[in-house]
Amino acid sequence: MKKTILALDIYDFKKAQNLVEKTFKYIDVYKVGPILFLQSGKEIIKVINDSGKKVFLDLKFHDIPATVKRSVESARELGVFSLTVHSIGGEEMLKAVSSVENRPKIWAVTVLTSQIATPEEVLRRAKLTKSCGIDGVIASPLEISVIKKGCGSDFDVVTPGIRLAKVEDDQKRVATPETAINAGADFIVVGRPIIEAPDPAEAAKDICEAIEKL
Ligand code: C5P
Repeated sequence: MKKTILALDIYDFKKAQNLVEKTFKYIDVYKVGPILFLQSGKEIIKVINDSGKKVFLDLKFHDIPATVKRSVESARELGVFSLTVHSIGGEEMLKAVSSVENRPKIWAVTVLTSQIATPEEVLRRAKLTKSCGIDGVIASPLEISVIKKGCGSDFDVVTPGIRLAKVEDDQKRVATPETAINAGADFIVVGRPIIEAPDPAEAAKDICEAIEKL
């Protein structure tokens, strides 16, 4: 499976559908977050699934255990490949979601990449999620190797905060696609560097080819 997940962080269903069509060759998993989900959740998930691609539903669930468990059951019915929960939901919540039968992959957010966190704090949260049966974590490029070392190579690390060149925006802990993959990321999540590029297909192709060469 290709390692770049494209974050469809846009409002417009038609634009999202168009991005899927344009980047189809280079992307296998599309991330649907609240921005698009609240506009056209079921329709865009159907478009992605019908085209043989996978959906990463990034709604970052964080609520009482019973509610989050039922949310995961609902997401399973939509046929998503993976979804996110917040690790700060705690042990009981994490165990409740990991116990859902035939569930999608669950990745936990350690600390948002727009916030500052020490690698120790991120690792502590990663280990907690692993002990609760969660499949992996979302973590910044700077923590990939520490998590792989501490949690083992089969514990997924999914990495946003990918930038092609030095740019100043809200992502505080960033790396290039090659650096993140070399450090051991199973998937990189890329949004604006592709969707805001003058030619999104070209940007997706460049990233895809750069990491396939490694
Ligand atoms: O546009 P950009 O490439 O920064 O997009 C990164 C994506 O990854 C966004 O959709 C953001 O919500 C998501 N994300 C993140 N940090 C996390 C979890 C998810 O930036 N810890």
